[in-house]
Amino acid sequence: MKAKITLAKEFRIGDIDRRIYGSFIEHLGRAVYGGIFEPDHPTADGDGFRQDVIDLVRELNVPIVRYPGGNFVSGYNWEDGVGPVELRPKRLDLAWGTTEPNTFGTNEFMKWCRKADTDCMMAVNLGTRGAEEARNLVEYMNHKSGSAWADLRKSHGYSDPWGVKLWCLGNEMDGTWQMGAKTAVDYGKLANEASKMMKWTDGSIETVLCGSSSRTSPTFGEWEAQSLEIAYDSVDYVSLHQYYENRKGDTPTFLARTMELEEFIYSVICVCDYIKAKKRSKKTINLSFDEWNVWYHSDNAPYERWSYAPPRLEDIYNFEDALLVGSMLITLLRHCDRIKIACLAQLVNVIAPIFTQTGGGIFKQTIFYPFEHLSNYGRGAALNPIITCDKYDCAEYTDVPYIESIATFDEENEALTVFVVNKSEDEAQELTVNLMDFEGFKPFEFISMDGYDKHDENTFMRENVKPHSNALPSMDGGMLSAHLEPFSWNVIRLKK
Ligand code: AHR
Repeated sequence: MKAKITLAKEFRIGDIDRRIYGSFIEHLGRAVYGGIFEPDHPTADGDGFRQDVIDLVRELNVPIVRYPGGNFVSGYNWEDGVGPVELRPKRLDLAWGTTEPNTFGTNEFMKWCRKADTDCMMAVNLGTRGAEEARNLVEYMNHKSGSAWADLRKSHGYSDPWGVKLWCLGNEMDGTWQMGAKTAVDYGKLANEASKMMKWTDGSIETVLCGSSSRTSPTFGEWEAQSLEIAYDSVDYVSLHQYYENRKGDTPTFLARTMELEEFIYSVICVCDYIKAKKRSKKTINLSFDEWNVWYHSDNAPYERWSYAPPRLEDIYNFEDALLVGSMLITLLRHCDRIKIACLAQLVNVIAPIFTQTGGGIFKQTIFYPFEHLSNYGRGAALNPIITCDKYDCAEYTDVPYIESIATFDEENEALTVFVVNKSEDEAQELTVNLMDFEGFKPFEFISMDGYDKHDENTFMRENVKPHSNALPSMDGGMLSAHLEPFSWNVIRLKK
């Protein structure tokens, strides 16, 4: 097959907010205990943080990590997780049916963030708790001193405020599975009051209103409209969550999910702007896609109820998942004018790119690589590529382009990167990229992942699926030509 991409500096979608390459750590399964925190592990530092995990988080170059949930946050008393560890209570976590020891809490997470070179996106409990506890947490974390909660933090050994700038107003409050689930109107009122009080406590913070838990939620659309109608003036972002699965083994449909993702993003933008229009507001609400990934491999895995940090949601990802994860992040970048924050859910062990053995080794899952490439090389502005390519029909979609692509242009460093997925399982693509507008730019690296069976996975023993370098694509008068293998992830890096 032949495919053509045309790029120009004017095809600028917007500047990429680095926070689009965020991730997520929840008190769930082995994400915290046995993931980022394992005091007895041979690589653990003085704070009990696994250094092997921190090294890989740094490789992923994650600018922000959402914490502490997820469903967990809707029953969490943040006060349980601060102060002397020996005084902290063990609690039943009703979200995941486990026992939370609270030996790791807010301050430990903040210390971990500093060591992992990342920022925190903090979520407050608007399920079983309310605006009062939320504003107290802002005071505990961000107020310098001279008030009860700030001084309590100081007495816990943290004299400087943490200065957390981004706050989630609860989690998936539309879901029946959520502790303290609410109607859109009740949630809108609570989120509005909480956000107001949190911002009065610290005027420098931004807040994220919970959107629907997925596009298939029965109240999707109406939920966003009703809650935004109430909270529009006091919040900055609305959240989106989406996970995809391939339970039927229908790969063409699985890889075509980005078409649905496009629709989802577009619909949420429309609802935000509809409320903006109704209110004749000058303010624009942007999007925080704070949970996204593939999730289904670990369905129905048994665990012992009320046990401590049992393995949960431990999906082992295969090669086709890596192609969808790359395609999903490309889709988010195509909307970087409105999506300012996104979190790959999650970061370690729980539906994650990094997988550890408690007391043992670590490996990079297949999905690690596309994320790493985009996070490290997808800098500057996103350019909308004009793509001409063949299309296919599948069970749920028609006219699915075989090529998924985004280009990023870092003007300051004169770096241009083209990310391309070839979704065809059996045909290569002879790709030409029109770079007439990028005089003097030459390819210096061409990385691919290809040649694997779609079910290939990585393990502790063997990293089967990983990127390799190719011979550089040729250039002829501003036209770049590259051969893309069937079913492949490709990154073409150019410099002036
Ligand atoms: O990421 C796993 C779970 O998925 C989160 O706790 C919840 O917000 C979502 O339903």
